Amino acid sequence: MTNVATTATIPPVRPAAHTAPRFDMYVSIHKALRHFMTDTLHRVGRLDVEDAAETGQVLGQLDSLLTLCIDHVHNENRFVHTAIEARQPGGAGRTEQEHVEHLESIEALRAEGRALADAPATERPLLALRLYRHLALFVAENLQHMHFEETHNNAVLWACYSDAELFALHQQIIASLPLDETLLVARWMIPASTPAERAAMVGGMKAGAPAPVFQQVVDAFRPHLDETAWDRLARAVGVAQQPGLVDFR
Ligand SMILES: [Fe+2]
Repeated sequence: MTNVATTATIPPVRPAAHTAPRFDMYVSIHKALRHFMTDTLHRVGRLDVEDAAETGQVLGQLDSLLTLCIDHVHNENRFVHTAIEARQPGGAGRTEQEHVEHLESIEALRAEGRALADAPATERPLLALRLYRHLALFVAENLQHMHFEETHNNAVLWACYSDAELFALHQQIIASLPLDETLLVARWMIPASTPAERAAMVGGMKAGAPAPVFQQVVDAFRPHLDETAWDRLARAVGVAQQPGLVDFR
């Protein structure tokens, strides 16, 4: 695996960029990706390759993660980078190139996953360790990449667009997602968010989505919130607090 940037390339954290009251279209999806990536890395690292069921489950989660990463790259290229380049030509150049490298890394990781699944038992421990280390490098690269997007790319977006324009762009992205991707993102995003962020997102979904769709979204993330978090969210958005039951009030 290559393409892992050094820490020297990370721009310094600028508090103003993190506290500015501007619309941030990166923050929630990136929290979802950080959650999904680190959980998957953890599961690959502790994998018992002698357990066929666990191996299948973990490699399935890895495949799901990598598919979401591909979709995320394409969505950012199609919507966010296009918006940046329209008003600041060259402004998305670095992250555009990093996306090319991410797609190459994803194909390599998929090949390693397939190799592990198909290997004889004696070879699986070493193949699993190789996959774990290379997935760790991929996660490391993505953590740095997302930080650059949330600082540099956001600074460009905020300089070139109003919040109303950015919100409209974000709504276009959400509307473009197939339902299964929306549910997968909700499963990782809602538990990874603060109580205030959860209330805003889930409240918005309750107000804007058809009831059956909202029920599916809740079902996707509900098992992954503890009782305290669910109780607080249910009170904030006005849904019944019994597990598995959403009552619109
Ligand atoms: Fe990106």
